[in-house]
Amino acid sequence: MQPLSLDKPAARTQDPARPAFAHLDAALLTAALARLPTAEVAEFTGSWDRLPADAHLDTARPYRFRRYSGFRIRPGRLELLPHRPFFQDRDINRVYGGVDRLFAPLEERTAGGAVLHTVVHTLLGRLPGPRSGIDTCGVHQIRVVATTDAEGHPAPEGVHQDGHSYVAQVLIGRQDVRGAESTLYDLRRSPLHRALLTEPWETIVLDDRRVLHGVTPVRPAPGAHTGVRDMMLIDFFPGGEGEEGE
Ligand SMILES: [Fe+2]
Repeated sequence: MQPLSLDKPAARTQDPARPAFAHLDAALLTAALARLPTAEVAEFTGSWDRLPADAHLDTARPYRFRRYSGFRIRPGRLELLPHRPFFQDRDINRVYGGVDRLFAPLEERTAGGAVLHTVVHTLLGRLPGPRSGIDTCGVHQIRVVATTDAEGHPAPEGVHQDGHSYVAQVLIGRQDVRGAESTLYDLRRSPLHRALLTEPWETIVLDDRRVLHGVTPVRPAPGAHTGVRDMMLIDFFPGGEGEEGE
């Protein structure tokens, strides 16, 4: 197989008639958010500075920080669902599957603000497939920190599916980072698309039932001691599925 070169944002697809993913330029969300006060958007992205450590990592020093909340998607808004643990089957996540992982919820102003609602509704309109029945989403705020002593792992489970219908991977920020290259694969694990998300709000949306994904480790850029990568992951799925666990 030919090595894949890093692709620029574009609606790169395996089958143009039925794309399984889209790599969206930062301009899409930037334009959607331009209608909101700049300070509100800055407050939203600044909330990544207040993420607690992921208590479910088996490392002496935490390298991942996160929050998670679920929402019902209503016309033009989001309705916060009661806080519950995040669950994935063991056959979906061989590292952390089979156990409830209780993450801190999103802060009230993050969960209830117009920024999140705008991002979710904008991406809902760009899902690579039918939207019917998709009325629920899970929102993960995740920060991965790498130092010269310890790399950070955005996806310790390796190449995987998340167990949802669609997943959006939104870059919030990337500072002094080397690595963290995203790759999408078909169900036979042949690479389809390789991308380095570099621009805040640059996004990959994928049909989680039709592609697998993986991310290489985060390392500090040459000359830096610490590298930080902030992501927002949004899981889209039908509500009935979300009631019992994702
Ligand atoms: Fe994933």
